Amino acid sequence: MQAVHEDVARVLFTDEEIQARVKEMGAQITADYQGQSLLVVSVLRGAAIFMADLVRAIDLPVEMDYMAVSSYGNGAKSSGVVQILKDTTSSLEGRHVIIAEDILDSGLTLEFLIENFELRNPASVEVATLLRKDVKPQADVHCRYIGFECPNEFIVGYGLDYAERYRNLPYIGVLKPEIYQ
Ligand code: IMP
Ligand code: MG
Repeated sequence: MQAVHEDVARVLFTDEEIQARVKEMGAQITADYQGQSLLVVSVLRGAAIFMADLVRAIDLPVEMDYMAVSSYGNGAKSSGVVQILKDTTSSLEGRHVIIAEDILDSGLTLEFLIENFELRNPASVEVATLLRKDVKPQADVHCRYIGFECPNEFIVGYGLDYAERYRNLPYIGVLKPEIYQ
């Protein structure tokens, strides 16, 4: 077992806990979409690792696609003005789409994505987010699948970064405030 990174104040969810929860989410999705095929779209880069584990826990025909977005704003705060840096390759028309997100914070990014996807005539759009932060959301986003609730602190690991670091930690933890202050 790898030692906990010195920049991590505490581990919130271990590798084993994450794997178990993602398997449950995959089983739930499999049950909910029986007889259908899915297009799972992950939001780069944070959700790539979650997506890789989630699709392997879904026992249905699944296609994978990716989007990259950036949100304009003052510093670390999401502004809700989202720019598409990379769009999906597949058409969403008539597809059952699941957006795989790493963390729901203000909800502004997901609100933009859901509205954008709904204009493309999919059969359905739902959200699977690994984490939901305990904050008062700025946008009313319905997430059908939520992995874990997490505290309103800066979270890293299992895809989540600070300044592009820590994405490869196998667990999810709270970053020490002195690292980003
Ligand atoms: P929202 O538009 O405020 O919901 O922003 C969500 C995005 O911000 C996520 O997809 C993450 O990329 C990023 N984010 C929000 N909180 C954290 C965090 O605690 N650690 C790492 N990234 C975060
Ligand atoms: Mg993200």
